[in-house]
Amino acid sequence: MRTTRRRLLLGGAASGAAAVGAVVAVATGDEGTTPGETDRARLPRTDRPARQHAWDAVVHRDAHGNGLPPKHHRLLLCDLAADPTPARAWAAEAALRRVERVVPDGPVGVFVVVGWGPSWFRRLGATSPIPRPKPLSDVEAPILDDPAAILHLASDDERRLDAVERALLNGVPLRGAGDTDLRGLLRVRTRRTGFVGAGLPRARQRGTVGLPTDRPIARKAPLYMGFQSGLRKNQATEDDVTIEDGPWKGGTTMHVSAIDLTLNTWYHGVDDAGRVRRMFAADRTPADVARHPTGLDNPEDVDLPAVAKEHGVIGHAQAMASVRRNGRPRIIRRDFDSADGDAAQVHFVALQRSIADFEATRTAMNAAKAVNEQAGVGAQINNGINEWITVTARGNYLVPARADRICPGLPGWSA
Ligand code: HEM
Repeated sequence: MRTTRRRLLLGGAASGAAAVGAVVAVATGDEGTTPGETDRARLPRTDRPARQHAWDAVVHRDAHGNGLPPKHHRLLLCDLAADPTPARAWAAEAALRRVERVVPDGPVGVFVVVGWGPSWFRRLGATSPIPRPKPLSDVEAPILDDPAAILHLASDDERRLDAVERALLNGVPLRGAGDTDLRGLLRVRTRRTGFVGAGLPRARQRGTVGLPTDRPIARKAPLYMGFQSGLRKNQATEDDVTIEDGPWKGGTTMHVSAIDLTLNTWYHGVDDAGRVRRMFAADRTPADVARHPTGLDNPEDVDLPAVAKEHGVIGHAQAMASVRRNGRPRIIRRDFDSADGDAAQVHFVALQRSIADFEATRTAMNAAKAVNEQAGVGAQINNGINEWITVTARGNYLVPARADRICPGLPGWSA
């Protein structure tokens, strides 16, 4: 029997008549769907890729072929503004497509990615394809986000990005687009903003808590910690992170964490060489990093306890490499820095085939087996970059293929 999304939802309903009833109530909501109102054929056309997470073909690249992330980002965590009905889903999908008709894809325009949290699937009475978030180290107590939906908007052009955000979620029309208002379906609960790219962290340094006040961040640094991240050899590919079969084929999963940075001792207590040892690997030097602009080799079979014993420190990328698959990391990093609330932060956006892949990767960052008091390696101290980061929030999302990006699994809409 072919598994359709609707069958999955009904089959996965929690238990008994109450749960099935919940699904039916959503399906037949009395919101006045008139004939043809949910007809997909009447939606505006979109020529964006089938995968929402397909950015690689259009991002800018540096001289070495590393993808350069869009410079400006918004993460909008949303509650449902009303009962989800096929008519409201249709209107929301039409709104997104109208935006995409007048704004190009990619960093010159705006990337639009929509994800759905476990609470969305609970609302349908369905089994969620993604687990609820949980703390992923002994030293963190994050807020566990579970909004219905999340929007990730990204662009090199901050004014255009703001215009798209206002058009979708503030009711401010976008010239030539028509009705682009998502507020019939979604209401923003939490807004996170940020940036990545040469010079942007330095420009935000003054007045941002968590950064040194007496030492400028390097002029060309794309991130507060001073290094370029997401190097070509050390990212998963978009194929790697795409769900291969089942009802969510063509989609991916997204983990979004918020991380506070406290970088005074990163810049004062550690010199250039020490920062490279902690960010990359215990036996690497600034010259090695400069010689390998597409990424250092990060061997999977490294004996981290032996490294800790020998060097008294282990590297962040070195620890993460232990969970590589097919010679590559399991996740695509699309993180960016932030000065939200005037505090230095990272909004860490990671894409992977399953949330289990993220959890394995994040657990590797704890490098528990490398902890060795005699050698001076603790859970935080001399253990990659753990000393300087504090995770404050985590959330897990399904990012469906573009065709199913609104109200995935809503009976009568995407069945
Ligand atoms: C919070 C601030 C963080 C910064 C500034 C940072 C920066 C970096 C840098 C500079 C690299 C090496 C350059 C490269 O290969 O691209 C790297 C590698 C990596 N990072 Fe991070 N990172 C951070 C947090 C995280 C987190 C939270 C995760 C995931 C849980 C993560 C996962 C990885 C992975 C998978 C690699 C590549 C490892 C490999 O080559 O196998 N990073 N990071």
